[in-house]
Amino acid sequence: MKVTVVGAGAVGASCAEYIAIKDFASEVVLLDIKEGFAEGKAMDLMQTASLNGFDTKITGTTSDYSKTANSDICVITSGIPRKPGMTREELIGINAGIVKMVSSSLIEHSPNTIIIVVSNPMDTMTYLVHKTTSLPKNRIIGMGGALDSARFKYRLAEALGAPISDVDGMVIGGHSDKGMVPLINKAVRNSVSVSEFLSEDRMDQVVQDTKVGGATLTGLLGTSAWYAPGAAVSGMVQAIACNTKKIFPCSALLSGEFGLNDLSIGVPCVLGDNGIEKIVEISLSDAEKAKLAESAEGVKKTNGLLEL
Ligand code: LAC
Repeated sequence: MKVTVVGAGAVGASCAEYIAIKDFASEVVLLDIKEGFAEGKAMDLMQTASLNGFDTKITGTTSDYSKTANSDICVITSGIPRKPGMTREELIGINAGIVKMVSSSLIEHSPNTIIIVVSNPMDTMTYLVHKTTSLPKNRIIGMGGALDSARFKYRLAEALGAPISDVDGMVIGGHSDKGMVPLINKAVRNSVSVSEFLSEDRMDQVVQDTKVGGATLTGLLGTSAWYAPGAAVSGMVQAIACNTKKIFPCSALLSGEFGLNDLSIGVPCVLGDNGIEKIVEISLSDAEKAKLAESAEGVKKTNGLLEL
C-alpha cells in the first residue's frame, strides 16, 4: 500500500505521521514544492520509527511526481491555509490552480489512484478534481465531514461531561462555517439521544461551536489547524487501505442522492478499497433536509467561481 501526501505543511505532515503510527501502509511519499522541505519532514518522521514502533517507509521529494508513481491513495493538502478572519471560500483563486495542477500530475503517474482532497474550499476543490480529471467518481473524495464530526463529538462530550468514546454524532453538508449540518437530533450518548441530557439551548450551542470549529482554531493558532485534520484524513486512508467499509461523511459527487445534483458535498459514505463504495442515503427530517439544501446552494455558489 503506497500513499502519497502532497503538501508537507502541518496538515500533510500530521497526516503522514498518523498513517505511519497506525502502521498499515508500506510506503508514504511526501511531496512539496519547497526545496528540501518534504525530504526534511520525511527524515524527521523516519527518525521517530524506532521510538513509535512502525515500519512504514516515509520518503520526501521536491516536486518529483515520478516518485509518487503507482500510489494507491493520494492526499492533496497543498494550497494556502486560512489566516484569522478569512473564510475557506476566500482561498479559491490561488488554490484552484494548485489543485488542478497537482491532481493531473498525480494521475499521470498513478492512473488508478484514489484521491482525497483536503485543500480549501474543500467541496469546491473536490468538484474541480471531478470536473478536470477522468477518474471515476468513487475515486475522488473530499475530507471535511470526518473532521467536522470529530469536532462535533468533542463539543458533545464537553457539553455532556462524558468521555468522547461515549458519544457519537455526524456532520454532513459543506465544509464551511455556514454550510455544516451537525445532525444534533441523531447524536447519541451510548445509544441514548443527547436530547435526553441536554437542553435545546445547550444543543444549539454545541451546533454553533462545531460549525465554527476551524475558525476558532485559526483564531487561536494564527493559521488553520493540523492535528485533527491530519487524523481525519489518516482515518479515511486507513478505511480505504484496509477495506474496512466504515462510514465517514465525505464530500462525494452527487447525482440525485438527497435530491442533489452536480456538486460535491458531505454525505455519509461507506469507504473501502474502491474509495466510496456506497453513498448512504439516511433519512433526514424536513429541517435537516432544508439545511442540507441551503448548504448545497452555498457550495454551488462557490463552485460558480471556478473557471472550468
Ligand atoms: C479545518 C481546515 C482543514 O477545518 O479546513 O481546520
